[in-house]
Amino acid sequence: CQRQDGRPSKQRLLVVANRLPVSAIRRGEDSWQLEVSAGGLVTALLGLKEFDAKWIGWAGVNVPDEVGQRALTNALAEKRCIPIFLDEEMVHQYYNGYCNNILWPLFHYLGIPQEDRLATTRSFQSQFDAYKKANQMFAEVVKEHYKEGDVVWCHDYHLMFLPKYLKEYNNKMKVGWFLHTPFPSSEIHRMLPSRSELLRSVLAADLVGFHTYDYARHFVSACTRILGLEGTPEGVEDQGKLTRVAAFPIGIDYERFIRALELPQVQNHMKELKQRFAGRKVMLGVDRLDMIKGIPQKILAFEKFLEENPHWRDRVVLLQIAVPTRTDVPEYQKLTSQVHEIVGRINGKFGTLTAVPIHHLDRSLDFHALCALYAITDVALVTSLRDGMNLVSYEFVACQASNKGVLILSEFAGAAQSLGAGAILVNPWNVTEVAASISYALEMPADEREKRHQHNFKHVTTHTSQEWAATFVSELNDTIVEAQLRTRQ
Ligand code: ADP
Ligand code: G6P
Repeated sequence: CQRQDGRPSKQRLLVVANRLPVSAIRRGEDSWQLEVSAGGLVTALLGLKEFDAKWIGWAGVNVPDEVGQRALTNALAEKRCIPIFLDEEMVHQYYNGYCNNILWPLFHYLGIPQEDRLATTRSFQSQFDAYKKANQMFAEVVKEHYKEGDVVWCHDYHLMFLPKYLKEYNNKMKVGWFLHTPFPSSEIHRMLPSRSELLRSVLAADLVGFHTYDYARHFVSACTRILGLEGTPEGVEDQGKLTRVAAFPIGIDYERFIRALELPQVQNHMKELKQRFAGRKVMLGVDRLDMIKGIPQKILAFEKFLEENPHWRDRVVLLQIAVPTRTDVPEYQKLTSQVHEIVGRINGKFGTLTAVPIHHLDRSLDFHALCALYAITDVALVTSLRDGMNLVSYEFVACQASNKGVLILSEFAGAAQSLGAGAILVNPWNVTEVAASISYALEMPADEREKRHQHNFKHVTTHTSQEWAATFVSELNDTIVEAQLRTRQ
């Protein structure tokens, strides 16, 4: 790709994801405040600096009127974002319903919540129809903005029909699809009434990417078992058309964290936090308040640790920062009350007039506050029941160059495959094991902490989000060239 002056121009990219990197809050009829959206997908895609990228997605807000839509479109244009407007019913059926009450728990092996099973079965078809309709709306906006030569990169479980709709419109479009969650065993995927249609639609893409080899393998075996297609070492073949399937483990922009730690305001904040928790070891959890993150299990393990280790009771504090997410989905509402109940009970049991063992915050922290907290932490607890990758574990490691804190990490997070040798791996369902790991981590000798940290730090600093994006896009470009060669033969 060359400009007229001979210098290579940046690859043009249309990034399509349900969630835009900024969410909008209405401040007046035609005025909007934009805030950075939470979640690993947004964090990872901050690594797209090397591309000429535009982002298409939902701004997380219902805007029924044209004046508001026009004003928001203009405000977002400055951020190179193009909004999709979903009405309330669509959000209810597509986002809260099919995406977050069906696909999300199923892809994380949590099944469909007991009391919702019949209701979900009854509303399945209407939610699935809304899902397809929403995917069509995304496709229409992509078509409007697509220029020949653009690479279209579709993201996540919200948009499994998008590759099919885009290829039906223009078979020459370069289309990639990446899943940020686990892809479950075919035994789980086959529970979905729409299992075949979903797989076929994804297979319309030229390249399909996952965080780990296991997820890629599960996808290929779902295609073989459910669709009867042939799985090859490169991907899945259907009547001579090969869809390349591969693992592209994601990373973070670690330099952003290291730079932030040098800033005077972050250093001051670190000093304040150290004074505030002087004499106590700091343990940290940072998660969206989601059932996949295993927050109740983590807190119960901490309780068990306090029960079994009375000498630690006034020498350790757990800070759990949990940003509310998907708050209209009943399962998430139940989780919030459950977590509050457990935290209240444990603080009542082990708290004193001057200190409580758990500080639980239902909110997001800004980037600098988060960096300071990561840096002063002694033990980070990531106990996801399942997690595509988990970037919080990477962020913690990036901020620990001086402290060399310990990472306790769920074996069910994708990150266990990359940070497993440096972290203490645990089964989050086993509170006895997690409690024992907390004890081990708090008492770990300095040389072992150093060794474990170095292992993880090396990984985090050599597998960045920039490299992840560049590898995916370059492989997508190669896939197209290979396909052209095959057609000519
Ligand atoms: P997920 O993609 O499921 O949200 P990840 O761990 O991969 O999980 O990514 C979460 C991202 O959201 C990280 O970049 C993390 O810093 C951010 N995040 C999560 N919880 C909070 C919070 N309470 N405050 C600020 N940022 C948060
Ligand atoms: C995960 C998903 C993302 C999603 C994020 C936040 O990281 O993989 O697609 O954007 O969670 O969830 P939300 O529903 O708020 O977009």
